[in-house]
Parts: sequence; C-alpha cells; structure tokens
Amino acid sequence: MIEISHLSKQYISPSREEIRALDDVSVHIQKGDIFGIIGMSGAGKSTLLRCIGLLEPPSQGKILIDGADVTSLKGKKLIQLRRSIGIIFQGYNLLMQRTVAGNVAFPMELTGVPKAQREARVRELLELVGLSDRARMYPSQLSGGQKQRVAIARALANHSKVLLCDEPTSALDSLTTQSILGLLRDINERLGVTIVVITHEIGVVRAICNRVAVIDSSRFVEEGPAQQVLEHPQNRVTRMLLGIKEEL
Ligand SMILES: Nc1ncnc2c1ncn2[C@@H]1O[C@H](COP(=O)(O)OP(=O)(O)OP(=O)(O)O)[C@@H](O)[C@H]1O
Ligand SMILES: [Mg+2]
Repeated sequence: MIEISHLSKQYISPSREEIRALDDVSVHIQKGDIFGIIGMSGAGKSTLLRCIGLLEPPSQGKILIDGADVTSLKGKKLIQLRRSIGIIFQGYNLLMQRTVAGNVAFPMELTGVPKAQREARVRELLELVGLSDRARMYPSQLSGGQKQRVAIARALANHSKVLLCDEPTSALDSLTTQSILGLLRDINERLGVTIVVITHEIGVVRAICNRVAVIDSSRFVEEGPAQQVLEHPQNRVTRMLLGIKEEL
C-alpha cells in the first residue's frame, strides 16, 4: 500500500550546515498493517511521517502509494491525495477556537462536503471515539486522552484508508494509553484502516503493531514482524528500547 524506497531528507540549518534527518530509508507498509516506527528522540520519526503524509517532499528517493509514484505530485493532485491520508500530530494540533464537532467537521468543510452530510458524519465519528456527549465543548475543556480522540475522529473524517499517528500516547497515563491503543486497534479491525504509528515506547509496539521498524540516527537499523523483533532483537538500539542492559 505504501512503498518507500531509498528515502532521504536533508535540512539546512540557519548556520548553513546540513542536517540529515533521514538517510536511505526503505520500507513496505502493507494494507491492513499496524506498522510501528520506533526510535529515540531526534532519530527522524516525525520527518518520516511528514514525508509519508505528503506534507514535505523528500530530498531523494521515492514514495509509492497503491503502486503510483506520488513523490513529485504537485498542485491539486497533491492536495487531493494528501486529504485522503489521516494524520494525528505529536501534540494534537486541534483548532482551539472550534468546538469538538467543529474540529471534526473541518476537513469536510475543506473538501466541500454538504452540511447535512457533514453533521451526520461528525455524529458517527464522535460515537466511534466515545465523545458524543462532548460535541459542543472546546479543546481547552478536554483531557489529553479526549483531545487525542478528537484528533483521531478528525483524521478519519474524509474516510481515510491510512492513518498516520505521531506519538499518539506519549503524553498520556498508562490507562488512557491502553484505551487510545484499543481505539486504534478497533479502527484497524472494524474499518480496515492501515495505521502507521510512531513511538518511542516499546509498549505501544507490543500492544498493537504487527510489524515494526527501528530508526536510529536517521537510518532504519532493524525491521520485521513485531513479535520477532521483540523476542529476538538484533540491534543495540532495539535492545536499549526493550530495556535490555548490554555488557560493556
Ligand atoms: N524543519 C526542520 N528544519 C531543520 N531541521 C529539522 C527540521 N525538522 C526536523 N529537523 C531535524 O531533523 C532531525 C530529526 O527530527 P524529527 O523531528 O524527525 O525527530 P523525531 O524522531 O520525531 O524526534 P522526537 O521523538 O523528539 O519527536 C532533528 O535533528 C531535527 O532537529
Ligand atoms: Mg517527533
């Protein structure tokens, strides 16, 4: 479904030094996967998610979605495709001046969905994420877990078949984390949505991912079925994320 080959991304710092955020990353995400990308802070995870979400063009390499090369799409076609991908950002990114219902409706306003249809979809999505009774409240009146549920509902508004999640549980306590992960699993199973989840918590991979890639200093160092990687970690960084102490 999403094929990334030899993707690299460089930024130029204000002092004109090159920052390599991604270096020759290749991966194949299959339809129906809950694919985990795990790594330490600054490894390049959010950069990769922005590239997959078509928010930023890669410096080198290719992204294929459903077999079509989307790397060099521009203008209307790019915007259209971008809107078919749901993204949950690190830190929610909700519109603070809009109610919960207004946030969920927003992507449908952008794509010109008629009002009655929009309202019906908002009701359906708020029910899905368990927030029907919070529709008229504002983000500032919600808990972190509830904000994340609004972000999930909004990301699915236009019937996205892919959901990209950047650290969806990093600011939540363990019980709320379990409920958000349960919701993501439910969305994957019931709606058939392919999910890419970025995290630095191995527990997230253990709870919901069927495959995982480990990223370290802008490169993938290990990739495979989640169970295999968790049980037989090959790389030092994977073992560190698993909390396994190395002999010096
Ligand atoms: N727009 C940008 N301009 C310049 N450098 C950037 C930009 N975005 C990211 N970087 C750099 O790229 C590297 C990777 O950043 P990225 O945000 O992808 O890390 P991350 O793995 O998501 O970290 P975290 O777990 O802390 O969110 C960092 O060194 C960062 O400073
Ligand atoms: Mg990040």
